[in-house]
Amino acid sequence: MEIKVFETIENLNTFAAEKFIEIGTQAIKNHGQFTVALAGGSTPKALFQLLASNKYNNKINWKSVFFFFGDERNVLPDDDESNFRMANENLFQPLNIDSDNIYRWETEIENVKKIAEVYEKSIQHFFRGFPKFDLILLGMGDDSHTASLFPSTKALNEMEKTAVENRVEKLETWRFTLTFPAINNAENIIFLVKGAEKAETLKRVLEGEFQPEKYPSQNIKPENGKLFWLIDKSAAGLLNKNDV
Ligand code: 6PG
Repeated sequence: MEIKVFETIENLNTFAAEKFIEIGTQAIKNHGQFTVALAGGSTPKALFQLLASNKYNNKINWKSVFFFFGDERNVLPDDDESNFRMANENLFQPLNIDSDNIYRWETEIENVKKIAEVYEKSIQHFFRGFPKFDLILLGMGDDSHTASLFPSTKALNEMEKTAVENRVEKLETWRFTLTFPAINNAENIIFLVKGAEKAETLKRVLEGEFQPEKYPSQNIKPENGKLFWLIDKSAAGLLNKNDV
């Protein structure tokens, strides 16, 4: 696990963009394609915009990049809350990504179980079995959830499937999420964490007792892959100096 603290969110995003291109270029060289599962929420938006900017938009063959989503809300793809919509507006459309390169949760399907089953099948079909993503981008909520693996929810205990529906009582909603086995099988995992409001939780996750039911982000431990925590200075404010 590599923890890197950045003075500014701009420096963090630049490092993340360089890492994205480095991992992607290597993946395309090694096996002809780059599979990446995107994080939702607000943090990744600036990174998506940077990747779509003139600085990076010609640094990789986007036709060989295949996009998935670490999680999704139970909303339609054009909803303000949709993780797909945020990526579509800030990354896919600006880069003219072909829809054949985008695998989203089909939240227009009639029920939550079916949405998860369909996504599970499309991922298993793409990977011809259990997925090994080249890169998974993750955020962390101030309750230490990641993807839509929220504290004390059923999906935390899913050890077989790749993609599941998950009832999140505290939000009074259904969410969709990749599972720990699917995430931890990735070659590379990058957490993007910014903001002082995350400092307390981040300290507990990185330095506190191992309590994954309470702090699901603690259970992100790639089997054989690499884990990077990219953190801005304010989120890292409470970490022990020798930890970073
Ligand atoms: C989501 C995300 C979620 C997110 C964290 C952090 O659908 O909300 O996938 O896991 O990464 O909630 O969100 P922010 O980046 O908005 O702080």
